[in-house]
Amino acid sequence: MDNSKLIGPFRQVIPMAGLQLKGAISDNELIVIEDAGILIADEKIHTIGKFSKLLADVIETNIEVIRLEGNHVCLPGLVDAHTHICFGGTRANDYAMRNAGKTYMEIAKAGGGIWDTVTQTRKATKEELIKHTVKLAKRHLKNGTTTLEVKSGYGLSVEEELKMLYAIKEANETLPTDLIPTCLAAHMIPKDYNGSAEDYLIEIGSLLFPKLKEEGLSNRIDAFIEESAFSKTQIEPYFKKAKEMGFAITVHADQFSTGGSEVAVKFGAISADHLEASTQKEIELLAKSDVIAIALPGASLGLGCNFTPARQLLDAGATLAIASDHNPGSAPMGDLLTQATILGAFEKLTNAEVLAGITFRAAAALNLSDRGQLEKGYLADLAIFHTNDYKEILYNQGNLKPCMVWKSGGLIFDRHKG
Ligand code: NIG
Ligand code: FE
Repeated sequence: MDNSKLIGPFRQVIPMAGLQLKGAISDNELIVIEDAGILIADEKIHTIGKFSKLLADVIETNIEVIRLEGNHVCLPGLVDAHTHICFGGTRANDYAMRNAGKTYMEIAKAGGGIWDTVTQTRKATKEELIKHTVKLAKRHLKNGTTTLEVKSGYGLSVEEELKMLYAIKEANETLPTDLIPTCLAAHMIPKDYNGSAEDYLIEIGSLLFPKLKEEGLSNRIDAFIEESAFSKTQIEPYFKKAKEMGFAITVHADQFSTGGSEVAVKFGAISADHLEASTQKEIELLAKSDVIAIALPGASLGLGCNFTPARQLLDAGATLAIASDHNPGSAPMGDLLTQATILGAFEKLTNAEVLAGITFRAAAALNLSDRGQLEKGYLADLAIFHTNDYKEILYNQGNLKPCMVWKSGGLIFDRHKG
């Protein structure tokens, strides 16, 4: 065990292990390991146990011991399974207009909405996009997020979507955290496209999909199914093609009107995200399926609208993940822990359910089985908080930030050092 280290003692380690993927979880199901140490070998967790015992085992070896002073609680590094942090410009005007009572249509007419960000993203160079994406991802990592999904979708042409996806790929190469890229070329019908929505989707499927495979740019295809974007019938052939080519499917579903979650279930999507408009029918459909429901409280907070019915989804037996949806339009805050805890307070979610939603359940939504839990063989991705009780983390509603973040066995952020 050459590259091994022992970290501790932790007042508590919350491994998020042994919990079911689907349905409600009570807090007394959470395993809490007290006075614990974590032995890391290379990038993975080797052992979690009593610190004193692990220390005695390694004391005669040359294994590095990282001793923590004071009270610390360790969670798995957080996983944010839905963001749009690669973009150009700002939509502060949209936010002001919305809060001054302007409607979606009025904002779009005044030059706002998704198309505004498309225009600004197209104007940006790839290098500018990389710089901005890295900056935002670093903000997320300081808040404990060690894995972050990032969507394209502000390019809306083969060439401009490629620019975004290369920017995400290159940003990932410079960051200690993992960015998981998703192609959202079906975000809206591009206003400058010379043809129908169907033609646009065929063009993306035939020209962009093979490029994504060849260049290893993404293995996930997302679409926004909504009255202002694409209809169910327009998206079905697009998803059929994506599935045939082996892409995982994810859907912006039921944000303002229903329909998207039904398509998600039909195509065996890995997740259906948003769901603010889902009714009992959609909730039951999702709960019966293996589609992971992703609540995006940041979009509810940004738009001033209702939250995803998270309690009902869990009670019906669905898998619930929680993501930030960080984007310049509907979810500008981009603070996963704050948003997850607020969702928990409004929807009456247990600590265990909120933490599951931003750790192993979110990892499952990205098809990642090596993270989101702290157990032997999992990546040593750690979010460490200066407190004596894990309940303080959500109680502080996002104001208690991690004091240290580790990714794949390396320290990547130490708040004391900035
Ligand atoms: O997830 N709903 C559609 N797409 C984004 C918003 C993107 C934007 O407004 O720029 C979302 O909320
Ligand atoms: Fe989104």
